[in-house]
Amino acid sequence: MRTRLFTPYKIGDMELKNRISVPPMCQYQAKDGKATTWHKVHYGKLAGSGAALVCIEAMAVTPDGRISGSDLGLWSDELGWSLSEIVETMRAIDPSTKIAVQINHAGRKASERAPWLGGHLSQEEGGWEPVAPSAVSAGSDRPVPREMLPGGIEAVIQAFAYAAQRAQKAGVDAIEIHMAHGYLLHQFLSPLSNLRTDEYGGSFENRIRLPLAVFDAMKKAAPQVQLGVRVSATDWLEGGWNLKETIDFLNILKAHGCAFADVSTGGLHEDQKIPVGYGYQLPFARAVRLQTGLPTIACGLIKDARQAESVLVEGTADLVDVGREMLLNPHWGWQAALQLNEKVEFPPSYVRGMHR
Ligand code: FNR
Repeated sequence: MRTRLFTPYKIGDMELKNRISVPPMCQYQAKDGKATTWHKVHYGKLAGSGAALVCIEAMAVTPDGRISGSDLGLWSDELGWSLSEIVETMRAIDPSTKIAVQINHAGRKASERAPWLGGHLSQEEGGWEPVAPSAVSAGSDRPVPREMLPGGIEAVIQAFAYAAQRAQKAGVDAIEIHMAHGYLLHQFLSPLSNLRTDEYGGSFENRIRLPLAVFDAMKKAAPQVQLGVRVSATDWLEGGWNLKETIDFLNILKAHGCAFADVSTGGLHEDQKIPVGYGYQLPFARAVRLQTGLPTIACGLIKDARQAESVLVEGTADLVDVGREMLLNPHWGWQAALQLNEKVEFPPSYVRGMHR
């Protein structure tokens, strides 16, 4: 009998050969938003990992929407071509692997150094002034961002739409809008970071207004791709964005044509208390799947094949994200097949290595 992990799945008309997904993971290797050799090799490896779906890291919609100066961007046609080079490389390695890209604006969490250097990059050091729904800093060691004016909000919606158009043109199968981890759209959702008194702040309806407008604009701009979202299902803090609001919002997005939900948590506030452990975010994915019926991707410390299989068998999710394990072992998918005694079509060049 087939394992659930290797049972094909469909999101809209996107056919996935199994249930393994690689979540977006920033590499901090871009030059002026453009992909480098690193990206082609890295995403080529992941295309050949045995995963059915690989999501390319967060790509910024504007230069000031980058987390760091070395993020990928999608704010010009030239950068769209740069993305198409990554896509072509991935298709050359394994055309059966489906390709998603995450699209983001970092908001108040912009102008960071690469994580291995750490900290905020000030304007004196070549950084830039972050913008946000409200002039509330992301942490005690972070600057107070500039509150966005209505004109800036309109421009951001446009920038997301153009980025979606470029991603579709570059040939991706799916787009994941980054509404999680404390970045701009999550900042609008959460009452802890959104203190606005206009139509974009206050009530649930007002806080979801911009993320929903971004979704609609991207859907219109890129109708041929599967458009889904990554959400933080909780801020892990009293008075923050929570699971109930997440589910209500996802049900609205579903009615607007959302194709999938990739369920993560946290990242908004420095006082968050996260009980990190094996599969610690799974209850959130389960609640989303059961209460929205959206194709659901579970994420967070899913490390081995048997654990991934049980997540699926228990009905917690439809797909599993394998992130850091995939960085350590970019053949995780093939090894999972061997561990679960699955008969899958290994890459012909590797087949001799499989017979041990
Ligand atoms: C990440 N993560 C992340 N998340 C996201 O939504 N967009 C991104 O670009 C990134 N970038 C990123 C870079 C690196 C190096 C890591 C390790 C992580 C979070 C990632 O997608 C995933 O949610 C977490 O790593 C948890 O899953 P794993 O690694 O426990 O399987």
